[in-house]
Amino acid sequence: MFAQNPERFFPKKELMTIGSYYYPEHWPREHWAKDIKKMAEVGFEFTHFGEFAWTFIEPEEGKFDFKWLDECVELAHQNGVKVIMCTSSPTPPAWLVQKHPEILMVNAEGRTMQHGSRQHISWSSAVYREYVSKMVEAIGKHYGKDNRIWGWQLDNEPSHYGQYDYSPAAQESFRRWLKAKYKTIDELNKTWGTAFWSIWYNDFNQILIPNQKELIAQPSPHAVLDFKRFSAEECNDFLSMQYKILRKYISPDQWITTNLMPEHIDVDPTKINSLDFVTYTKYLVAGYDKGIGPQGFRMGSATSIAFANDLFRSFNGVTGVMELQPGQVNWGKFNPQPMPGVVRMWIWHAFAGGNKLVCNYRFDRPITGGEQYHYAIMNADKTTISTSGIEYIKAIGEIKELRKHYDANAAAPQRYQKRLAAVLYNPDNRWEEDNQPQTNQWDFMSHLKRYYGALKQLGAPVDVITEEKDFSKYPVMVAPSYELLDAQLINRWKQYVQNGGHLVLTSRTGQKDHNGKLWETKWAEPIYDLIGAKIPFYDLLPDSVTGTIKAGTQNFGWNNWADVLEADKGTEVWATYSNQFYAGKAAVTHRRLGRGTVTFVGPDTDDGQLEKTVLAKVYQQAGIATDNLPDGVMLDWRDGFWVGVNYSGNAYNVPIPSTAKILIGSKTLKPADVVVWKE
Ligand code: GAL
Repeated sequence: MFAQNPERFFPKKELMTIGSYYYPEHWPREHWAKDIKKMAEVGFEFTHFGEFAWTFIEPEEGKFDFKWLDECVELAHQNGVKVIMCTSSPTPPAWLVQKHPEILMVNAEGRTMQHGSRQHISWSSAVYREYVSKMVEAIGKHYGKDNRIWGWQLDNEPSHYGQYDYSPAAQESFRRWLKAKYKTIDELNKTWGTAFWSIWYNDFNQILIPNQKELIAQPSPHAVLDFKRFSAEECNDFLSMQYKILRKYISPDQWITTNLMPEHIDVDPTKINSLDFVTYTKYLVAGYDKGIGPQGFRMGSATSIAFANDLFRSFNGVTGVMELQPGQVNWGKFNPQPMPGVVRMWIWHAFAGGNKLVCNYRFDRPITGGEQYHYAIMNADKTTISTSGIEYIKAIGEIKELRKHYDANAAAPQRYQKRLAAVLYNPDNRWEEDNQPQTNQWDFMSHLKRYYGALKQLGAPVDVITEEKDFSKYPVMVAPSYELLDAQLINRWKQYVQNGGHLVLTSRTGQKDHNGKLWETKWAEPIYDLIGAKIPFYDLLPDSVTGTIKAGTQNFGWNNWADVLEADKGTEVWATYSNQFYAGKAAVTHRRLGRGTVTFVGPDTDDGQLEKTVLAKVYQQAGIATDNLPDGVMLDWRDGFWVGVNYSGNAYNVPIPSTAKILIGSKTLKPADVVVWKE
């Protein structure tokens, strides 16, 4: 459970606060005063210190030195800049690693990670945890009652950047976790089905972390699923340990968060539940995302910030972007210049999604170290401002101006609120399907985003929620590829629909229980009663073959996945497959149940057109009016303001009523631009 209601830390009238990372330890002391003054002059309202500074805070074991940091905190204060203080656990000092090499993490190849970069330690190591505890305690005691400190960040992007920890400490901790979960080895054998290939264990001590690099054929999917759950919980446990220590020493007015990568699956943001709130980091242009149209690679995907907003805000109401790309970066497949204007648009997109803070990564360009090619607000001359720095400064000025128009009584417009949708998300489904994709074309997140993006094109506000949340406030709920479930969830869905909810279920839903075990029934039978249809089989195609689907007069193609359906009496068929040996069989079904409806979409397409058409029809039949926004345009409402952003290659004429007051931009919303208005 989250510790407290974090709304109180962020007065609503401030809307959103923008700050910047600064690394005093990277520069000689004589730079500090000038740099921090400059930060304040260009408008930043907070700064961020120390997430990698352990060796400067504790240069020798047990000898803490805060003098240098005190000086910087005071400089920030004198310039009216608040401070986010960090615990620097991702970068243990060289002396610590040298003394205790057993704290290092081991990768899948069995190689021990070494000092010389960051995040090379094992969260499971008791020795490392002990040193972290002492460091956190010291910094907590030093700054915990200091009202120049606004809040705290634990660690930095807690993760092993795409790798898992196979160290002896992680191995032991995994066994303990399994023992606590299953109690007896018999229970584990039964749940994992270890009779298969004689994997059978006599004792927990025989269990090894499943590691494909050490196995001839597939590992047990149940072991893999449990290991991923364990790793995510281990991260939460590590953060929770830091939280508890810090809370002992700090003022109740200071908040504690961490910054996670929203779609990075090795750490599960939905499992981080013991802080005050969780923030995210976002880099959209680094060669990994084509975006929309020929220049889309310079803007990133329209669903990237949007999805992060809607997922992170849903945990307990508050989130922020703790790192936002400041321009060109250094670590991508290739690192293009972002489109002029887009950095400012991202800041506004973060605002639209309810973020309370945005922190630029970073204030000045590093002249040494692994990120020399990374943009910052200041160029390397420390005097001139970078092109994207200018965009930040513009956005800061605009946000400050917008505060003057804030109206505490503004209520969400009815037409917007009525479309509210939930997307149900459980990383377990993603882990399970990543491990057994069944086709190289399957991609869980792309599947989910096709529905998520379609909802945003309909102009709907969306919450990306987990199963524990209340479903009743959402007129529409989509549960994309919800493979693992139980009778309880099916019953909650039934109730939700009977009470008037419109539920959309999609490819692969309902095939297994929470342990990843197939039902001892017909294929996915537990959901038949709910969807009013049967799923006799599914099909997958080679890359070069397109499956076709007919829905009334419209035709669609699919290639990734197709659940083939047979509708019960009384269930409507909205689309049928029109080629392959099952031509004529149902692809999309829809039925009424109580006061609501259930729609099942069997296929997963590449272009998302079928998905979008189905969702539009669900809304239309439910009598809820929607927009029909072009791909890449998003319009959202927050705290009395409408915000439009455009990730597409074309200008869009936003249908702003003539009575509205346009505060920023204009009705013609150009690519990489923003419009803000009040109605
Ligand atoms: C983030 C990381 C930062 C910095 C940045 C560079 O992922 O948290 O510390 O390395 O990338 O883009």
